[in-house]
Amino acid sequence: MSTQADAGRPAAAKGAGRPKPAPMSVTVLVPAAGSGSRMGGRVKKQFLLLNGMPVLAHTLRRLDDMPEVREVIPVVPEAELEECLEMCVDGQGLKKVRRVVPGGRERQDSVRNGLLAMEPPGGWVMVHDGVRPFVTREMVSALILALDGCDGAVLAVPAKDTLKEVGPDRLVRRTLDRRLLWHVQTPQAFPYRVIAEAFRKAYAEGFYGTDEASLVERYGGSVRVVAGSYANIKITTPEDMILAEAILAGGAGVVEMAAGKAGCEK
Ligand code: C5P
Repeated sequence: MSTQADAGRPAAAKGAGRPKPAPMSVTVLVPAAGSGSRMGGRVKKQFLLLNGMPVLAHTLRRLDDMPEVREVIPVVPEAELEECLEMCVDGQGLKKVRRVVPGGRERQDSVRNGLLAMEPPGGWVMVHDGVRPFVTREMVSALILALDGCDGAVLAVPAKDTLKEVGPDRLVRRTLDRRLLWHVQTPQAFPYRVIAEAFRKAYAEGFYGTDEASLVERYGGSVRVVAGSYANIKITTPEDMILAEAILAGGAGVVEMAAGKAGCEK
């Protein structure tokens, strides 16, 4: 039953007993160990130059600047560890990158390597794609707030196109209800104990998901969606580099204007 005193308390104070987000307690794992096969070309997409700087360096600099972030752990291709240090870490003035970790075969293996490298393990963990260079402090703060009372929080934008489930024969099986569909992005945020336990269980049964939240969901965790931004693009195919240049030149506002502010339709 809610009391007079409860009614006057800020929402964040009502989840007494749950771990509270605290400043400086967030470790961000940055998987950037993919081969980038959808991009084509010789240079992996995380190392392509955007305004003269590798995409991954853009991402790391933004995260490093955020007061909420305690440590940033990039996870990079094992064969290019030295090269990555030179291109994306050394000389970037990063204060919170204290270790760079070799990646694994799948994205999930790379994130696991990052989790295992945390020293000390604990606090809040965010996972953020190395190839999403437009992450903002607002996104990170919103995720921290959204974690209150939940096992995970993810950024997402409402689906704009109609999505259909299609069989291997290219015949449509069903049309999904677009009003319920969101495109999920990163960062994704979790208490360390939740994500560590979900990874332990996933590896015990050999389960692989396409994002971290799907592991937490699989083992009964509650994951909250936070309206993100259409400008928080993941650089995957060559046209994404053109879009990224436009966002850099015009600011994220250009994309928000063209796309409509995420979250307002739902
Ligand atoms: O392949 P996808 O676009 O989903 O990759 C998202 C992020 O995960 C990229 O930054 C990529 O470099 C990273 N990744 C990784 N290890 C892998 C595969 C992908 O760190 N084995």
